[in-house]
Amino acid sequence: MPEPFLEIRGLQSGYGDVQVLWDISIAVQRGEIACIVGSNGAGKTTLLRTISGLLPPRGGSIRLAGAEIGGLDPDQVLSRGVAHVPEGRRLFKGLSVQDNLLLGAYLRRDKAEIAKDLDFVYDLFPILKERQGQDATTMSGGEQQMCAIGRGIMSRPELLMIDELSLGLAPRLVERLSAALLEINRTGLTILLVEQDVMTAFEIARHAFVIETGQVSMAGTTEKLGGDPKIREAYMGM
Ligand SMILES: Nc1ncnc2c1ncn2[C@@H]1O[C@H](COP(=O)(O)OP(=O)(O)O)[C@@H](O)[C@H]1O
Ligand SMILES: [Mg+2]
Repeated sequence: MPEPFLEIRGLQSGYGDVQVLWDISIAVQRGEIACIVGSNGAGKTTLLRTISGLLPPRGGSIRLAGAEIGGLDPDQVLSRGVAHVPEGRRLFKGLSVQDNLLLGAYLRRDKAEIAKDLDFVYDLFPILKERQGQDATTMSGGEQQMCAIGRGIMSRPELLMIDELSLGLAPRLVERLSAALLEINRTGLTILLVEQDVMTAFEIARHAFVIETGQVSMAGTTEKLGGDPKIREAYMGM
């Protein structure tokens, strides 16, 4: 196995007196789609927030391409190539779709390349081009998720982390978004997907990490875990 692109070891994190992550170790290879699954409250969002610098780690390490990024601030993590599509999309009210997308590029100065990436996003999600002048928060949930993913792409990341791709969206839209992630992944972008919906995550990810109460309880290929009776019973309702 080559050195993982993202390697987290013994990570601890939390809020105030509340410790949420106890000992998280995961490894994501460059170019793959990996997923983190687990029940509501397991610590998935806390993990992404700690990776992206919104929460300081309390122990352990987060290495990206061999360099420690644990404890850097969010701008620094973004400039190292890690984009975070937050749970609930978090688009800016009063700003157009295009301005929300361009916010993703706020650390960049390469105007011509930014324009190319905007074209890429509009090719990926043509509805965003049609709606480019509309207040982004007035769009449907699925369209807002497209815009949030597009905003992530606009930073031209090497690792795109998405917190709850499918939450609240109709199956048809989830399929559309999953197909878009596969298309983005084919450009070489590494993707770390967080999902409560295990079926959706396992359909597109190659490796999975199951988090329970702030610890990794199982890890492996989605092919193997997808056939595991414990996973099928606890997370797939089978
Ligand atoms: N801002 C916060 N302050 C205190 N506790 C929090 C905060 N955000 C989340 N938690 C707690 O951390 C735990 C994990 O939450 P979270 O990471 O959001 O889980 P998940 O994303 O897997 O649903 C939960 O017990 C939750 O109540
Ligand atoms: Mg969450």
